[in-house]
Amino acid sequence: MDERERWSEPPRIEQPSIFPIEWRTETLKFVELYEKARREYWNPATLPWKDLDPADFTREQRMAIAYWFSTLANFDASGPAAFARALVHTYEQHEEDPLRKCFFSITRDEVNHEEFCQRSLERLWPGAPLNWEPKTDLEKLAVRNLKWLYYNGSRYWKGYKNAFDKYRIPVLFTSFFMGETAAATLFHHMAKNAQHSLFQQGFRNVGRDEARHMAITLYLFEKEAPKLTDEERVQVTRQLRAGFVFLSMILYEPPEQFWQLPPDYLDVHRELEKIARNAGLGVATLEDKRKVWHDAMLKVKGIAEKYSIEFPAMPEVGITGKEVVDVDENSIIPVF
Ligand SMILES: [Fe+2]
Ligand SMILES: [Fe+2]
Repeated sequence: MDERERWSEPPRIEQPSIFPIEWRTETLKFVELYEKARREYWNPATLPWKDLDPADFTREQRMAIAYWFSTLANFDASGPAAFARALVHTYEQHEEDPLRKCFFSITRDEVNHEEFCQRSLERLWPGAPLNWEPKTDLEKLAVRNLKWLYYNGSRYWKGYKNAFDKYRIPVLFTSFFMGETAAATLFHHMAKNAQHSLFQQGFRNVGRDEARHMAITLYLFEKEAPKLTDEERVQVTRQLRAGFVFLSMILYEPPEQFWQLPPDYLDVHRELEKIARNAGLGVATLEDKRKVWHDAMLKVKGIAEKYSIEFPAMPEVGITGKEVVDVDENSIIPVF
């Protein structure tokens, strides 16, 4: 046997690759949060769905609630794919093991959130979001709105996928914090204000998951923010604005930037949200949304500024800061 051949090294593994295999722990917080995720895991199939009786609502109310869940699905049902994409990235970039596990747990949670939307729709409006025959003008407009919403969702997805080639990890990961803060805020409010027990329970579970996602992304933010270059800090400011613009659709109202929508989209949206609210879904009034979204943004602002990241102006909810105008479909990273 040739001794040199016997002890030769294999060729170097070309990166990015998920190989070689390794398990490295740097951040104990991620270990704890993954354990917490395991403890808090829940099953959407075992919620008391039979208590959600379609006969408790008028046809219009059922349709409006279905419209709202279909709108939520733009964010929550894109969660599994968005986080699965990010999960692969953490493996390819050889991120520490407990962080990869946390991303796995978020992906799994998001599948539950998607299922919560799905089951609510199946119960109240079979065929929703788009596979049903609208009869009244309001129903037709609801379907039209959803088609436009999903079209915009597809524009977000294109940009999101490309972000992995475009930005370094610190920019990507710091941008995630924004979306999770938004999600935690939304579901906390919904759980408190919903009048139907099934919705209260579902939103409470989803909200608890989102609070954990927020904690994960906060620690991630604190880990990555010190590694940002000056140029990247500017990119994060832009991402914070992009996140606000994208998520305002569900947390507040879609701002002028990014969104391509028919002229009376917002009128129809407001009308349907009002009907859903009166039916006990727990949707906030515009005034409450503004306050809740404003407070959540202040929280993110405080943390960003701690790391010398300038916060963007969000005049829509009364927050001053750096004006960011170039938000387009190539520039939205945040995940829900
Ligand atoms: Fe979610
Ligand atoms: Fe989330």
